[in-house]
Amino acid sequence: MKKNIGLLSGDGIGPEVAAEGVKALNAVAEAFGHEFNFTEGLVGAIAIDKTGDPFPEETYQVCKNSDAVLFGAIGDPKYDNDPTAKVRPEQGLLRMRKSLGLFANLRPVRSYKVLEEASPLKSDRISGTDFLVFRELTGGLYFGSPRGRSEDGKTAFETSIYTEEEIIRITKLAFEAARKRRNKVTLVDKANVLVTSRLWREVVTKYAAENFSDVELDFLFVDNAAMQLILNPSQFDVILTENLFGDIITDEASVIAGSLGMLPSASVGSGLGLYEPIHGSYPQAAGKNIANPMASILSAAMLLETSFDLVKEANVIRDAVEEALNTGFVTVDINSEKHYSTTEVGDKIAALIKEKAAALA
Ligand code: IPM
Ligand code: MG
Repeated sequence: MKKNIGLLSGDGIGPEVAAEGVKALNAVAEAFGHEFNFTEGLVGAIAIDKTGDPFPEETYQVCKNSDAVLFGAIGDPKYDNDPTAKVRPEQGLLRMRKSLGLFANLRPVRSYKVLEEASPLKSDRISGTDFLVFRELTGGLYFGSPRGRSEDGKTAFETSIYTEEEIIRITKLAFEAARKRRNKVTLVDKANVLVTSRLWREVVTKYAAENFSDVELDFLFVDNAAMQLILNPSQFDVILTENLFGDIITDEASVIAGSLGMLPSASVGSGLGLYEPIHGSYPQAAGKNIANPMASILSAAMLLETSFDLVKEANVIRDAVEEALNTGFVTVDINSEKHYSTTEVGDKIAALIKEKAAALA
């Protein structure tokens, strides 16, 4: 298979972890006889520094001309503490999601046996957790207008808007995924307070009854969901939720995996898929070769499976990551006593990919 992959490394540890994702993809290409061509594009703070725009037109074109995109991370502390900054790296990310039609963000969360000790949660709670969050990505408070400040600057506001169509298109994806898993969808909302949440409930209930009557549907208010996620996470199969709630509960859920450095994600919608770790740019670790590359490598696996339908190859990557974990080839976030660098872990996983692929042949 011959494919073009856009590579948007971004800021902070983004370039370091994305390089290891590329290494894993190259190992797959070599072992399975595929050809992946990478084209780089600027995004985030580095794009602002070089072009004045966090998501320049050239980068949009790189994405448009790619079959899938591997993304690193964006964000720089020099913007975080400056509320007056007119241009911000995050605007690039949001514009990218919107302009590429990436309306669904898939964030799988699972516990790993060897990492149960690394999680601050009790292992009997998190053991056996395996769920998939569908976070709506191009609507809600993140994008609704009007938004802004009053003339005297003393009032600020944003708008949460959802249309039936926006709800249905992600609901369809979530229910299709549930059918391939354990047949259960939990809609997380705040329908006791928010009108948008009541629309979500109404639309999802009707659509599910008409199209997915074989899949169980239940509902949780987001505050309760936040609690259930750490009390009893193995009750969940597919979680469906709006943009802001999904942002918040997936950071919370990463604690289950033992490290934020373990969680990959896929953003999909109207064709093109974009794959990225859910962690941010972690500027304190940038340039030190200590960041955990596993979330990026697992994002590469999601890319192969979701965009190219290369399921066997994706599973080889996942097996390689699991073996690296089980044999202690991990970064400092996972084991503070015995640890390896970002590149060493990436090299090890690439070698394991080749070994496992050879064993399959
Ligand atoms: C995420 C991030 C982004 C978001 C930020 C960086 C804008 O937290 O992808 O979860 O809020 O969507
Ligand atoms: Mg987030």
